Amino acid sequence: MVNELKQRPVGIFDSGIGGLTVAQAIINVLPNERLLYFGDTAHLPYGDKSTAAIQSYAIKICDLLIKQQCKLILIACNSASAAAYELVREYVGSKAKVLNVIDPTVAYIGHTYPGKTIGLIGTKQTVNSNVYKKKIDDLDVKITLKSLATPLLADMIEEGFFNDSISESVIHAYLSNAELNDIEGLILGCTHYPLIKKQIEQFYEGKVDVLDASQIVAAHVKAFLEQHDLAAEKRKGDHQFYVSDFTRSFEESTRIFFKRQVRLKHYPLWE
Ligand code: DGL
Repeated sequence: MVNELKQRPVGIFDSGIGGLTVAQAIINVLPNERLLYFGDTAHLPYGDKSTAAIQSYAIKICDLLIKQQCKLILIACNSASAAAYELVREYVGSKAKVLNVIDPTVAYIGHTYPGKTIGLIGTKQTVNSNVYKKKIDDLDVKITLKSLATPLLADMIEEGFFNDSISESVIHAYLSNAELNDIEGLILGCTHYPLIKKQIEQFYEGKVDVLDASQIVAAHVKAFLEQHDLAAEKRKGDHQFYVSDFTRSFEESTRIFFKRQVRLKHYPLWE
C-alpha cells in the first residue's frame, strides 16, 4: 500500500503554462516522480482575477487532481497560492498533501536574510494580497519587505519578449521604481520570472541577490516527499500535461518554460 502511494503522480497546477518553470525545476531534482500538470489556460491570467474567482477555479482543478490520485498537489502559481492555498488545503483534507510556492520561499528568506530589506515583484493579486508580507512578518526576524506589482512582465514573457531590448526597457522601468530602493534580495514572485532572471541580475550588477523561487520550491518538494516517505523509487509512466483551453500557441510556448515542447492535452474542465 505504502509503495502504491509513492508511485502516484505529483499534481501541479497553474493559471497557464508559466508553472512549467516549477515543473522543470522539480523534474531536475526528482527525476523519479511522474507529474500531472494542469494549466488553467481558459482563465489565464490569474494575476488580475478576484480572490473568489481564483478560489473557485482552484477547487475544480483539485477535484480533477484528486480523481487522478495525486499524492501531492502543488499550487505552482503565486497568484493562486496567495488567493486559494488555505481553502484548497481544507478542501483536499487527507486526500492529498497540499503545498504552495509562497511558504518555502518565505522560509528561505527568513533564515537567509534576517534583519535585511528584501524586494518582491509579482502580479497584482500576489502583491496586493500582502501574503508574503504577512508570512514574513509572522517569522518575526525583522525583515522589511518592499513589494511592487509588475503586471506587464508575465504577458511580455509569454509573447516571447525576454533577453532582448524590449524586456530590458520594461525591466528597467519597473525596477527603477523607488519602492524597490535599498533592497538586498529580490524575490521573483511569479512563475514566469525565472526567464528574465539573468536580465534582472544584470540590472542590479550583482548588488542584489535575485531569488528564483522555482529552485527553492523544488528543493522543498523533494525534502517534503522524503520526510513523508512519499518519494517515488522509480519513474512509472510519462508526465501528463493538461490545459483547460487548447491553442497551438500555448503548446509552442511550452518550449519557453519547460525547455522542450510538450504535448498538451485539452481537458475542458469548464464545459
Ligand atoms: N502564474 C502566475 C503567477 O505565478 C502568473 C500568470 C498569471 O497572472 O496568471 O502569479
